[in-house]
Amino acid sequence: MSIPVTKAIFPVAGLGTRFLPATKANPKEMLPIVDKPLIQYAVEEAISAGITELVFVTSSSKRAIEDHFDTNFELEHCLSSQGKSELLQMVQNIVPKGVDCIYVRQPQALGLGHAVLCARQVIGRVPFAVLLADDLIDAQTPCLKQMLEIYHEANASVVAVQEIPREDVQKYGVIAVDKGWHGQGQVQAIVEKPKPNEAPSNYGVVGRYILTAETFDHLQQIPPGRGGEIQLTDAIARLLKHQKVMALQFKGTRHDCGSKLGYLQATISLGLKHPELGAEFKKYLHGLLSDNIL
Ligand code: UTP
Repeated sequence: MSIPVTKAIFPVAGLGTRFLPATKANPKEMLPIVDKPLIQYAVEEAISAGITELVFVTSSSKRAIEDHFDTNFELEHCLSSQGKSELLQMVQNIVPKGVDCIYVRQPQALGLGHAVLCARQVIGRVPFAVLLADDLIDAQTPCLKQMLEIYHEANASVVAVQEIPREDVQKYGVIAVDKGWHGQGQVQAIVEKPKPNEAPSNYGVVGRYILTAETFDHLQQIPPGRGGEIQLTDAIARLLKHQKVMALQFKGTRHDCGSKLGYLQATISLGLKHPELGAEFKKYLHGLLSDNIL
């Protein structure tokens, strides 16, 4: 029987250099898509998949994230006295009752694997999820929920993958899959940022993982990998020599909001779907088309 997954790690201590100067003083994860910060999309996905303990791995420049998930008494008081009950409810329910936020610090940005390892004491010896907020996944069934189904079926770690153009594989952890692959299957091997001609497939891992506690043991033992960073991919490569690791090609659209282009694409895509703004925004984009600006 698989252990329920109720804890998720949100590594948010990266420097966000691809998004400078916006990320000089503001966390990348607080950049909004329409009206919600990236981190809130990831938190909502986790909560809808049954996560009740949110563990943020932060750094000194990321305090805005803690503030976002904390009570803002002054704001709530103002909204309440102005009778703005809908807005009040919205800010009060960012973290629903029964869900806890825990913050741990990564003293130095030594890599994603190192950030995950910083949460080891808080997680303990149970399986856990990892969500990277800069990968915004727009899906009918939340991506983490889709992954949990596989986790319970296989009683094994799960990574989310998508097909990547060959020329882009060097930006991803890339998996090798077995012959029985049908949008899901057991991972045979995983390599961090391979050259296109050395990639074992064109399935790249995106920012969603369900991992067993043994991952921490491997993270503790591995030396720095690509870019001198402790790579989560390297720990998974060791893990799969001892335990089954599954991959799932999830249903949904992933926006790489850590890149400026992906961020713009997400803004347009979610802007068009926005319940209040969507119709007007569509009209605006049509106008650009008919003015030959698009
Ligand atoms: P990225 O590879 O996107 O790095 O990290 P980054 O620093 O955020 O951004 P760039 O590449 O400099 O523009 C993927 C995720 O891992 C976290 C980041 O916050 C992001 O959510 N991370 C990365 C850490 O928490 N600590 C690290 O040392 C590195």
